[in-house]
Amino acid sequence: MDRLIIFDTTLRDGEQSPGASMTREEKLRIARQLERLRVDVIEAGFAAASNGDFEAVRSIAAAIKDSTVCSLSRANDKDIARAAEALAPAASRRIHTFIATSPLHMQMKLRMTPEQVLEQARLAVRFAGRFTDDIEFSTEDGSRSDPDFLCRVLEAVIAEGASTVNIPDTVGYAVPEQYGQLLRSLRERVPNAHRAVWSVHCHNDLGMAVANSLSGVLNGVRQIECTINGLGERAGNTALEEVVMALRTRSDVFGVDTQIDTTQIVATSRLVSNITGFPVQPNKAVVGANAFAHASGIHQDGVLKARQTYEIMRAEDVGWSANRIVLGKLSGRNAFKQRVQELGIPVESEADLQSAFGRFKELADRKAEIFDEDIQALFSDEEIGHHKEHFHLVSISQRSQTGGQPSAEVVFSVGAVEQRAKAEGNGPVDAVFKAIESRVVSGSELLLYSVNAITTGTESQGEVTVRLARGGRIVNGVGADLDIIAASAKAYISALNKLYTTAERLNPQTAMAP
Ligand code: KIV
Ligand code: ZN
Repeated sequence: MDRLIIFDTTLRDGEQSPGASMTREEKLRIARQLERLRVDVIEAGFAAASNGDFEAVRSIAAAIKDSTVCSLSRANDKDIARAAEALAPAASRRIHTFIATSPLHMQMKLRMTPEQVLEQARLAVRFAGRFTDDIEFSTEDGSRSDPDFLCRVLEAVIAEGASTVNIPDTVGYAVPEQYGQLLRSLRERVPNAHRAVWSVHCHNDLGMAVANSLSGVLNGVRQIECTINGLGERAGNTALEEVVMALRTRSDVFGVDTQIDTTQIVATSRLVSNITGFPVQPNKAVVGANAFAHASGIHQDGVLKARQTYEIMRAEDVGWSANRIVLGKLSGRNAFKQRVQELGIPVESEADLQSAFGRFKELADRKAEIFDEDIQALFSDEEIGHHKEHFHLVSISQRSQTGGQPSAEVVFSVGAVEQRAKAEGNGPVDAVFKAIESRVVSGSELLLYSVNAITTGTESQGEVTVRLARGGRIVNGVGADLDIIAASAKAYISALNKLYTTAERLNPQTAMAP
């Protein structure tokens, strides 16, 4: 079977989702997991966008051995040189440069003529060739570009040494048949087409990113750009887990396969969700909590008699465990460690494992059955980061009764100093947030508050997501606890830690503005 290259851009395009910005350490954790998932290319960021992005690309380039590490750069020498510098430590590196080719973008955004764009594209690829042979060139807004002009640009950049050419559907406007035909005709018309790998990069504005990418495959494309959980600018990008499982499950139609270790899919999805604070909807294909749950009696009966009656994929093939009740109060450190490894949870040190085991014991004292999702939550940002973070929750107490005004008292540390704060609020969560704010005075705006049950039943832990905005910056915090008021306080504090991090971050899109 033909091999298809999986190019993951969770750390670059995914990070462009409002609120999904990540610290260098968080990006590194995700990159390590993407390597375990065996993606071919990790787009680690946009090195020229900010010092923070540069450092993140550089750390990932130094740490990753089995995947190619890539940096995005605009089509100019300064960006390309910066990308090359950040990628220098990589075992295998790629420079990804791009310029817009649609009439609208060229006229209104770049204020350049098509001839100028063509020349800039040519020069950019030539310059990138000084640093590596692995050069990707993207025609931004490709799906709305004039095919004749695309042919000229693509022929020129391949002649200059572009080894991958990518035709993005930047605004999610394409429909599968038309997009597939465009790609086929470009491949047929560009004389040196066979010297490059053809790639798709689709956005999900009309919910067709996966379908458009697969249409590309049927028309000769051999690289798909995608993100975990479909994270990305606006409605997101092509979801990695969906295209990979579609290619595998329907290999009879597509005739291509990837080198992805699909058993790492669920662990990767949870890690990205925990770090970014973007929950996965329960009915999401492949990684949603209900993706393999059969509720109706007819379906359950069918599955019990013959699994294939209603199941086209096996849950365990994507990393859902068959027996989901895993551990309890009597489980020892070795059983815990083994389960953590089976779940593919990255643990940086023995000290981190030991402290997670301590939290596991505390949880097991309060909850009889510990599920995989509970174990994953023990390794969330707030949990493993607390010893290094600026704000840390110590304890909480709150009172609410029908007809009375809810109040809360929160004890938390700010650096080495312990703070005690009390407040009343419209509800218990409001009281907790007001109490914390009375000391921190962050002046941030609460954009989103959501609670999800991690597992089933009233014994489940609640996982709370809090989104805060301040001065144009948006951050997400996540917290899990059996007590959802405590989970809310943890989530709020996790968001504050992100808001106050000194790591520089700039939405790459801002840097792209001409
Ligand atoms: O959507 C897009 O066009 C992009 C390019 C920079 C590849 O993200
Ligand atoms: Zn994009």
